Amino acid sequence: MESFTAFNPTKLHFGRDVVKQIGDHATQIGAHALLMYGCGSVLKNRSYADTVGRLKQNDIKVTEYSGIKPNPSVDDVMEAAQIGRDNKVDMVVAVGGGSVIDAAKVVAICIADDDCNAWEVMTREHDPQAAVPILAVLTLAATGTEMNPAAVLQNRQTKQKIGFRHKLMYPMHSYLDPAYTLSVPQNYTAYGIVDLVSHCLEAWFGKGNASLSDRFVISIIKEAMEYGPALMEDPENFELRSKIMWAATNALNSLTIYGRSCCDWGVHILGHNLSVLYDMPHGATLSIIYPAWMKVMRDRAGERIAKLGQGLFGNPSIDETIASLETFFSGLGSPVKCMEAGIEPACKKEILQLVNKNQAEGLNYQLSNVEREAILTHIF
Ligand code: NZQ
Ligand code: ZN
Repeated sequence: MESFTAFNPTKLHFGRDVVKQIGDHATQIGAHALLMYGCGSVLKNRSYADTVGRLKQNDIKVTEYSGIKPNPSVDDVMEAAQIGRDNKVDMVVAVGGGSVIDAAKVVAICIADDDCNAWEVMTREHDPQAAVPILAVLTLAATGTEMNPAAVLQNRQTKQKIGFRHKLMYPMHSYLDPAYTLSVPQNYTAYGIVDLVSHCLEAWFGKGNASLSDRFVISIIKEAMEYGPALMEDPENFELRSKIMWAATNALNSLTIYGRSCCDWGVHILGHNLSVLYDMPHGATLSIIYPAWMKVMRDRAGERIAKLGQGLFGNPSIDETIASLETFFSGLGSPVKCMEAGIEPACKKEILQLVNKNQAEGLNYQLSNVEREAILTHIF
């Protein structure tokens, strides 16, 4: 096992109507909130009305910034931060999925620092010193951002989508009411399940021998494999929404990482290039690239793929393990080939250029240009 520090300061409130507490919590922080949300889904379920209602009941002034899009852009973050600074807000309240919460995390840093350039924070050129508190009302089960210190943003000018972690970016409180996820459409429900499984896999293919973390990985993936397909059949089932929501949180709140020196993240990093080029939803990039990555890594990571197969499927061969995962993703309705996401084989050259330019690779499994090209061959 590698050395580690276990630390997670987020207070996570889970279950029906937990957002009722947000007014009291906000009062303990200050009097003025920047409320961030996306392109309107929160207005159609109760999440926005419940949040704003509770804030206003507690005399919290609310300034809004909406329009955060999936694969959020650093430009929107800069704009929101400026509004937050101009209004001297005391906290950021994010209502939405991973894109909104990730954007809010970097906004929280930039509000606390007049000289802050959000992209320089992301690229680690600017070391943040402070952030206003973040309260997150989650409406989509997928990323784990509700209980971790990470944010992922894209820069359309440089054609990069990158992640950044900082202890200032843990939400102070996160509110997870599975009822808010009942309205998530089929495609994003599937992408969320793929994403949570992929987070487990990124940990599994990380560096370091951590048997308890391995068991957590297997348990979380089994939870997703049992209840994910059931949820796709019965999307308005509160109990199934709850199980998937909690699984997604635990897939990326460090539980699966303790005892390893790093996760891999190679598949995520490759996938971010597809999102930058074609605005492809995050989970869809993962269901396409994970099986392809495993096919190319079957020699280098064969032992780990075999052990994964033992844990998940009994005792299949490496190829059967990869095929079973691919079938699972496909069965959810998430694409496993680019064509299913509307990306033609003619795009391969453009993708290859970008992944090579961005040197897309994992922290544990570095990739050569030849391996990157081989992976792309399998995604078409
Ligand atoms: O914009 P609105 O109108 O809110 O609609 C959203 C969006 O179109 C919609 N939606 C969200 N909640 C809904 C809903 N529709 C109906 N009912 C609801 N309850 O779903 C669409 C996708 O939302 P988004 O926030 O983009 O999805 P997700 O939660 O999957 O977040 C993806 C982003 O998180 C990043 C990804 O790269 C991507 O940018 N990630 C963040 C991580 C982290 N911070 O730890 C780790 C992940 O690996 C991931 O990279
Ligand atoms: Zn992810």
